Amino acid sequence: MPDPRGPIVDTTAASAAARARVADAVAGLRGEVTFGASLKDLTSFKIGGNADALAIPADEADVAHLLRQARAAAVPVFVLGGTNVLIHDGGIRGVVVSLAKLKAIRNEADHVVYAEGGLGMPIVLQHVIRHGLAGLEWAAGIPGTVGGCVAMNAGTRLGEMKDSVKALRIALPDGSLRDYSRDEIRFDYRRAHLPEGIVVGVWLQLRASSGHEVDHAIGDYLRYRKETQPLTMPNAGCVFKNPGPKSAGQVIEEAGLKGLRVGDAEVSTKHANFIVNVGAATAADVTTLIEQVKQRVKASSGIQLELELKVVGEPTVAAARRGGQA
Ligand code: EPU
Repeated sequence: MPDPRGPIVDTTAASAAARARVADAVAGLRGEVTFGASLKDLTSFKIGGNADALAIPADEADVAHLLRQARAAAVPVFVLGGTNVLIHDGGIRGVVVSLAKLKAIRNEADHVVYAEGGLGMPIVLQHVIRHGLAGLEWAAGIPGTVGGCVAMNAGTRLGEMKDSVKALRIALPDGSLRDYSRDEIRFDYRRAHLPEGIVVGVWLQLRASSGHEVDHAIGDYLRYRKETQPLTMPNAGCVFKNPGPKSAGQVIEEAGLKGLRVGDAEVSTKHANFIVNVGAATAADVTTLIEQVKQRVKASSGIQLELELKVVGEPTVAAARRGGQA
């Protein structure tokens, strides 16, 4: 008896041919490769399925090598920062790249710091402060990697990445590394228009300062975030863009949705624009909750919320069957 809902294509497992192409893409990498790696623990949400292959290139040139081979093998590549992302329960097809080995940082002339793309912003900020430099205070409390912060022009109300970038180094799909000056890249709200490739390093333009002045600005800001955001529970940062003039958190709270729950995914009772994983939430739980929040906010205030969170990968067959909401 044919299934009345139509045939199901299971996109959650790579075919043998696809697996062979993935193996070609990562062949000869000097870094580490794990086939079928679980991605859950690489995300701040602690949610997500497996990658066909997780690659951790040894250095900048290894990233470029991987991109060239992935293009030749027609294999998709996804760079995982891990903090502003929801990975579906079916995982990610192709190669997932972690820049965990790109963590060099060095001071150059004229208050410029070169930071490799895999460094966490909190580490870069600490380095900058320790060397008596200012100009990166806006990044206090941002947990992402430097490369990820460039790609999404991350920011807070104190400033954004484009204010600090002097130049970028990008690994390109032809296997080369190219440096771009700030003027060659267009930055918009939470988005950088980058050439296809991976940001492997950033030159940050800073200025001399008394450490005291910087510590003060950062201390206030971190205290505010700790008081107002659920930072001790697994989450992926703000879920929706602020619709303006009211913030997303405010309109969700006004719709009475704090504490709303699907499975182990919950609208935070501390800040309504966060969803927290209170145990073993699945991506399907989170996406179902997101849809409920959108619908109920629309019904009560007429506001159409838009996602800030990046949702990637393959929903599971079961979730797709429930109506494609995952
Ligand atoms: N508010 C509520 N209820 C809530 C949450 C907030 O009424 O549950 C109200 C607050 O009382 C305040 C207003 O909404 O009057 C704004 O709240 P908040 O100061 O927390 O700022 P936000 O706009 O919600 C933004 C960024 C955050 C960033 C904070 C602090 C966006 C979408 N969000 O939040 O960024 O941490 O400012 O700088 O731009 C992120 O990007 O992942 C993120 C969390």
